[in-house]
Amino acid sequence: MIDLHTHVLPGIDDGASRSAESIAMLKEEASQGVRAVALTPHFYRDRETVADFLAHRQAAYAHLLCRIEELPPEEREALPELKLGAEVTWMENCSKWEGLEQLCYEGTRYLLIEPPFITWNEAWFRDLQDLMNATGLTPVIAHLDRYLRDQKKSAIRELLSYGIPVQISAESLLRLTTRRHALELLASGDVQLLISDCHDPKRRKPNIGDALQVIAHRLGKEAAEKLAQNSEKIFA
Ligand SMILES: [Fe+2]
Repeated sequence: MIDLHTHVLPGIDDGASRSAESIAMLKEEASQGVRAVALTPHFYRDRETVADFLAHRQAAYAHLLCRIEELPPEEREALPELKLGAEVTWMENCSKWEGLEQLCYEGTRYLLIEPPFITWNEAWFRDLQDLMNATGLTPVIAHLDRYLRDQKKSAIRELLSYGIPVQISAESLLRLTTRRHALELLASGDVQLLISDCHDPKRRKPNIGDALQVIAHRLGKEAAEKLAQNSEKIFA
């Protein structure tokens, strides 16, 4: 199982503030049964260029690797494998930005996109299609669960009709008020990827294993195993 959406890298966004927090999160990921973690800090095009973001990400990554290197071997070796990525917040015309492919999950053509939190409009859907047609990249939709309440059902259906990979937060399986809908989306196959979107070791912590238990109990062990396989396919 790979956690495809985390804010583990220290000091780069609203996730881990220090490397000690990052390491605590990675230890928790391992105990949740996660074998690899994608580091996906927020990228906001109106705040920095792609080049600046990549430089910041590299500095945070190098810092974290140094701290990991200082751990006793048995602790270090128990940590999940790390992979670089970004959570790209959608902004109009994002399909035309230069260097987009550098923001993809490391070694892949999959680009994690955070959809807008305002009402989804034509510009959003047009950009999404342009992204696929003009760049050949495949968008991966971040945490669909965060849009279910505020977007029209028809807009959610349109997004799902594109057949691109869609993520759902483990939190939505663990919260009783959202669990049923989350299970329906997984059972129908509309959503294929389970992620933690963890930001810290306590409040928004790694929780994929806990959610997988709920899924195995409610939808069967095979459904939980399928999710683990789906996460691996992004980097296959
Ligand atoms: Fe996120």
